[in-house]
Amino acid sequence: MTAARERAVAASAPAAPMCPARYVVAGRRAETFDTVSLMLRPVADPIEPPRPGQFTMLYSFGAGEVPISVSGVGRGHELLQTIYSAGAITRALCAAAPGDIIGVRGPFGTGWPLCAAEGRDLLIIAGSIGLAPLRQAVLAALANRARYNRIALLVGARSPDRMLFARELDTWRRRGAEVTATVYAAHADWKGNVGPVTKFIGGTVADPAGTVAFVCCAEVVMRFAARELLARGVAAENILVSLERNMKCGAALCGHCQLGPLLLCRDGPVVNYADAAPLAAKQEL
Ligand SMILES: Cc1cc2nc3c(=O)[nH]c(=O)nc-3n(C[C@H](O)[C@H](O)[C@H](O)COP(=O)(O)OP(=O)(O)OC[C@H]3O[C@@H](n4cnc5c(N)ncnc54)[C@H](O)[C@@H]3O)c2cc1C
Ligand code: FES
Repeated sequence: MTAARERAVAASAPAAPMCPARYVVAGRRAETFDTVSLMLRPVADPIEPPRPGQFTMLYSFGAGEVPISVSGVGRGHELLQTIYSAGAITRALCAAAPGDIIGVRGPFGTGWPLCAAEGRDLLIIAGSIGLAPLRQAVLAALANRARYNRIALLVGARSPDRMLFARELDTWRRRGAEVTATVYAAHADWKGNVGPVTKFIGGTVADPAGTVAFVCCAEVVMRFAARELLARGVAAENILVSLERNMKCGAALCGHCQLGPLLLCRDGPVVNYADAAPLAAKQEL
């Protein structure tokens, strides 16, 4: 085999998506006491630009690899990835310091179908870390504000100190988004709403037939949110949810993320509720 042919075969081989690209931690920002955003800069060739809602597999050397959504993309192909410290691997990623090397594979998965919301009301519902996979969609929609009738954002957190991207919410308001923030519990000095996001859905849906909703929360909350949207008259096909399951390869090779007929690393995580409703109640095996 010629060298050129070998290179072509290597590029198309199934192992290609399994090979991490090296990224250096160029910045680190604590979003809350347990959630960190890393700005990752490619050391050599960057991965292909991720679309809003796609995820990468982030590899912390010596700890392991986990799926993390892309929260933002910089002009120099930097990736902003926001990580909640849930266990051993996310803890290692959250502890990464500027100069550290992280392995990145991807981007993988479907994204938020922003074009489906053009000319309509875009309603974004996020709970806690659920805003991380939606941040890039919010920024893309605001950059093209005129394409949407309304951009409404309903964000929830357990408490004010856990509100993700809290400093950005006012900027998004100023740029034309209607932002409703709510927490489950707060001290008396909290001036915002109290209660689950589902309590405020009614007030954010103005034109059910013309609404496209993107929803990313804990799965049980997502089911209640979808039911509330359906009850208000939003069509199941216009409710997009993010289904998360345990992932290993990220590239539709290993079957770890199978949910019914779907491989969620390829056919998800963003799935419309007409397809997701019969599957969402199933736990991973
Ligand atoms: C497509 C996709 C995108 C994701 N995007 C992000 C993101 O942007 N930011 C982020 O912080 N996390 C994200 N996650 C979740 C993240 O991958 C998990 O928190 C991580 O795998 C946990 O690994 P760990 O070794 O640190 O903890 P583990 O020891 O594996 O888990 C710690 C605890 O978290 C629970 N857990 C693990 N995975 C999930 C999950 N997917 N959903 C809910 N609970 C889980 C476990 O049951 C356990 O209780 C995403 C997951 C998927 C599938
Ligand atoms: S994670 Fe391997 S097939 Fe989806």
